Amino acid sequence: MVISNRVARADPRTTEDAGASGGLAVAVREALSETAGLWFGWSGQLSETPALHGPEMQPGGYRIATVDLTPADHRGYYNGYANEALWPVLHSAPHLMHHDADRYTAYRSVNRQFVDRLLPLLHPDDMIWIHDYHLLPAAEELRRRGLRNPIGFFLHTPFPAADAFAALPEHRALVEGLVHADLIGFQTASDLRAFQDYIRWEAGGSVSMDGRMEAFGRHFRASVFPISIDPAAFALTAERNADSDYCLKLARGTGRGALLLGVDRLDYTKGLPHRMLAYERLLELQPDLRRRMAFVQIASQSRSKLPEYVAIRRELEEISGRINGRFSEPDWTPLRYINRGIPRETLAGVLRMARMAVVTPLHDGMNLVAKEYVAAQNPEDPGVLMLSRFAGAAQELDAALIVNPLDHDETARRMHQGLTMSLEERRERWEAMMAVLSANDVSRWWRSFVRALADAANPTAQPP
Ligand code: G6P
Repeated sequence: MVISNRVARADPRTTEDAGASGGLAVAVREALSETAGLWFGWSGQLSETPALHGPEMQPGGYRIATVDLTPADHRGYYNGYANEALWPVLHSAPHLMHHDADRYTAYRSVNRQFVDRLLPLLHPDDMIWIHDYHLLPAAEELRRRGLRNPIGFFLHTPFPAADAFAALPEHRALVEGLVHADLIGFQTASDLRAFQDYIRWEAGGSVSMDGRMEAFGRHFRASVFPISIDPAAFALTAERNADSDYCLKLARGTGRGALLLGVDRLDYTKGLPHRMLAYERLLELQPDLRRRMAFVQIASQSRSKLPEYVAIRRELEEISGRINGRFSEPDWTPLRYINRGIPRETLAGVLRMARMAVVTPLHDGMNLVAKEYVAAQNPEDPGVLMLSRFAGAAQELDAALIVNPLDHDETARRMHQGLTMSLEERRERWEAMMAVLSANDVSRWWRSFVRALADAANPTAQPP
């Protein structure tokens, strides 16, 4: 069974909701559909008397059970501690952390409430898989109630350098809670290394070569499981949606020029202002490309009431307005900024028609849009993936055009390189990336995690 803050009640293929169509929701849904498991989390509703909904069967063949949050818990746990303290710290931006002790109290309390609601739904032989930073203390809460089932935890975000994590006043208590899991999974080898450093130098624990660790008197394992997609299914969806109304409208608005595309949740970790500034630089440096291309940024909203998110939205409106003011012509708009999400099926078609996807976060656990873009391409005439070196996906998709998003000149030069790349080179790079995706799809992600969890929870099992 799976526990996460966000639960995909709606089918992520057809919803426009940023959370339900995010990487976590899509991948977990894929895993649960194949195992007919139970998914537990927040209902997405607020209420003064939080009710338990379900368990109820979903069209995907899994069950969900959800609870509401009180408005106060939503403020303290979700907006406050999870998204204004943990999120910036995990993305190496501790200076953006807003911390207060009451929010931490709400965070712990919601973790306790979730576990209390979950316990009666558990069977003795259930494996429990906890997802993401909202639920770091959940394993400890489960053990406190005497639960001996195998417990795994997967972190969808990056894990920062040990001393950046230590910016959280409660860092020790958080990791002490986390290590009650038998297995802790990370997206990349760098995240795992940073966590090992924390265990050694901050927690005074030990780390063995085979992935076994010890800290706070507990034995556990940690390893790397890069999250992925189902590339074959996504390719099919992209082909089927290549002529959707949305695509036709987009093509009309772009003229006959090449489409550069960004698709992200509107979040300060995604590097959106830097990306637009690099595009502005490209327009300055390559006047001959004007009118022959257009940049479209689709940015779906979540957490939109938090001050950092209000600020980034304003900043983007200002930059995009300036770029269009400087470079637009009566019959050509260089940049379109669409502040709404689109359903994943429509998105698949849009990704297929883009000549270049610009995926340039400042920090990102994995970034599944990068993988979706590759899968969506027409093998005869594939587009170019531009990928930030700071996205987890860059550690696998090294045949992309890798950039440092903070270097606007380099990013602009790479945009030019991508737009003028020969068909032969595009094909070569695409084939290399497709091979990586086919070898590590979403099914391999969850199967290898579940296998490793079974081994970790069985003390006589040999290391993998
Ligand atoms: C990231 C997080 C997920 C989260 C998603 C959407 O991918 O790792 O845990 O569900 O963003 O954010 P939201 O706050 O809307 O759930």
